[in-house]
Amino acid sequence: MPALENDVFLRALRREPTPYTPVWLMRQAGRYLPEYNATRARAGSFLALAKTPSLATEVTLQPLARFPLDAAILFSDILTVPDAMGLGLYFVDGEGPKFERTTATAESIAALAAPDMASLRYVFDAVGEIKRALGRSVPLIGFAGSPFTLACYMIEGGGSPDFASVRRMSYARPDLLRRLVDVNAVAVAAYLNEQITAGADAVMIFDTWGGLLSHAAYRQFSLRPMREILAALKPAPDGRAIPTILFTKGAGASLDEAADVGASALGLDWTVDIAKARRELGRRVALQGNLDPLVLLTDLDTVVRETEAVIQAAGPAPGYIFNLGHGILPGTPLAHVAALVETVHRESRVNPAQ
Ligand code: CP3
Repeated sequence: MPALENDVFLRALRREPTPYTPVWLMRQAGRYLPEYNATRARAGSFLALAKTPSLATEVTLQPLARFPLDAAILFSDILTVPDAMGLGLYFVDGEGPKFERTTATAESIAALAAPDMASLRYVFDAVGEIKRALGRSVPLIGFAGSPFTLACYMIEGGGSPDFASVRRMSYARPDLLRRLVDVNAVAVAAYLNEQITAGADAVMIFDTWGGLLSHAAYRQFSLRPMREILAALKPAPDGRAIPTILFTKGAGASLDEAADVGASALGLDWTVDIAKARRELGRRVALQGNLDPLVLLTDLDTVVRETEAVIQAAGPAPGYIFNLGHGILPGTPLAHVAALVETVHRESRVNPAQ
């Protein structure tokens, strides 16, 4: 694999000095882009889009054609893995993801097994096709859901404001939740390794719901299986180590422990004081984040001011990647995204990471 023209993102993950702060946005390919909505309409559904490598490639590249982002992220979903376990993923418009079958009982959890990776071939084919389309331009991020966040959807059968049944299980039947996250950890490690083989330059674990757990339960059911996954990841086919990002939403109180599980970087949501996180974690990990996505639904002056504030708070130390604190929202004006990216690049060149 010839060297990338823009490897600023990978350098920042390795905590090396960079000429400016790299930026990408969670959910950068999505409904705020009119061309995404057009491709999705052509595909017929979100799942058809995600399961057709040529269309997944097309939408992965769409935000990069508009904005000078420093990384691409595979267009897919975290719920492809439980879908491949036979749970039957579908989407109801306006209601988010649903499963035809759940794994909420002792019997269904005992029967669960990591899927044959052949059933997720469409994802690895998409990774290969996206890499060929990107050429040497920017790195590609592969991703998966955390074992615990996948378990939330598998137990509940869909989204929930508080996943109460999952938290109840963490206290009443820790043996069941443990078996579920352990099966998921085996599946996610194999899934990420296949993405690495197919060409992913970095991988990210999305732990959207780990922050709902008690501190002890977070360590046991979220951090522990993520540590096992990170330990099981392989280098790239050419021997390069693959940098990793771990993002738990709502776990600002556990950053110190999260910094020790072996990830290259921690993703931070907007509730975290990134200056304080840097002070407390020192140079143990790179940091990624953490502008509130709601800022992009204000006005241009506010977008620029709040973006500058995050850059200032993150400070000049190497090992910082600008991002939002969670996914970009539908309805975000394109001009606001352009201003954000421009501000990050301009402001960080004035005061480059050393
Ligand atoms: O960042 C990217 O551009 C890559 C694509 C990506 C998607 N989902 C596409 C998507 C990524 C990284 C995800 C991860 C994901 N999926 C997470 C973890 C990150 C997070 O946001 O917390 C979770 C919890 C899911 C599960 C999921 N998939 C939900 C809850 C929804 C509905 C969300 C909504 O806003 O309606 C999805 C569907 C989904 N995944 C969409 C996209 C672009 C919207 C589908 C559509 O076009 O209608």
